[in-house]
Amino acid sequence: MRSQLRRSALPFAALVLAAGCGSSSGDGGDAGIGPDAEDLRHPESAVLYPPVVHAGFDGDHTFRVPVSTDLAFHTDGEPSWSSGDGSILDVEGIDTPDGPLGARGIWAMITTTGSGTTTVSCTIGEYTVTATVIVADYDSSQVDIGDTRYHTDEGGDRTSCSSCHEDGGGADHTPTEMAIHDDDALLMVATEGRYPDICETDDGDACTCDTEGCEREPGYELALTHEWDFTESEADGIIPYLRSLPPSGF
Ligand code: HEC
Repeated sequence: MRSQLRRSALPFAALVLAAGCGSSSGDGGDAGIGPDAEDLRHPESAVLYPPVVHAGFDGDHTFRVPVSTDLAFHTDGEPSWSSGDGSILDVEGIDTPDGPLGARGIWAMITTTGSGTTTVSCTIGEYTVTATVIVADYDSSQVDIGDTRYHTDEGGDRTSCSSCHEDGGGADHTPTEMAIHDDDALLMVATEGRYPDICETDDGDACTCDTEGCEREPGYELALTHEWDFTESEADGIIPYLRSLPPSGF
């Protein structure tokens, strides 16, 4: 589950980083390893996760995406969440969920109100973290066709998605985990059972695959054969439907 690890490791990495900063000042005292100790706090390192959020809007179904930030681990004060454009999304702070999701920080829920590209931000005191939000324009019939494909079991490569993914089975493909991926990547997961290759420079910046100085790393391959068949309209609808699912864990 490398893609899962890549996703959830990030906020922990920030914490480890924070803990590492304080080690030089360790005096054997009881300062503790935790973000509460003043010298372990680095609000400028905090991020809003995912850094790029993919969501949808069709004027009919509800599209929500939960986002989180570790900023509250690094500075005190009341968080305030804001939308870059109220005609594209609303955002509201929500209770921190239990379990691993809670370890990522404090949370807010985005609800889309239109399509387009904007931002979502969280401010505590003088610090602000921001993510880009890309809201695709879907037609409500796409979502309905995706819904039907998801739940209709014709066996073979037209097995229903629900037979594995509903009732807590399969992997989480709700916006809680999928908002970081664009539609093309998710359709590739559904039809080829793998994520697109990752192309990065030595510095870890995204680059165009197969150009000078750009390293190609194979995308995560699912642990099972996951090559499902779709008609053209089903292929147009399945990802919009997944984006309309209620985010798991909230
Ligand atoms: C035979 C059971 C089965 C069926 C049927 C199935 N899936 Fe999956 N799916 C899985 C499993 C298991 C995983 C996780 C595999 C892994 O992470 O290696 C997965 C992963 C995924 C993921 C990626 C989740 C992640 O965390 O990376 C998506 C998206 C997805 N499935 C969509 C679909 C769609 C859409 C359909 C129907 C067209 C479908 N699946 C049908 C078993 C199934």
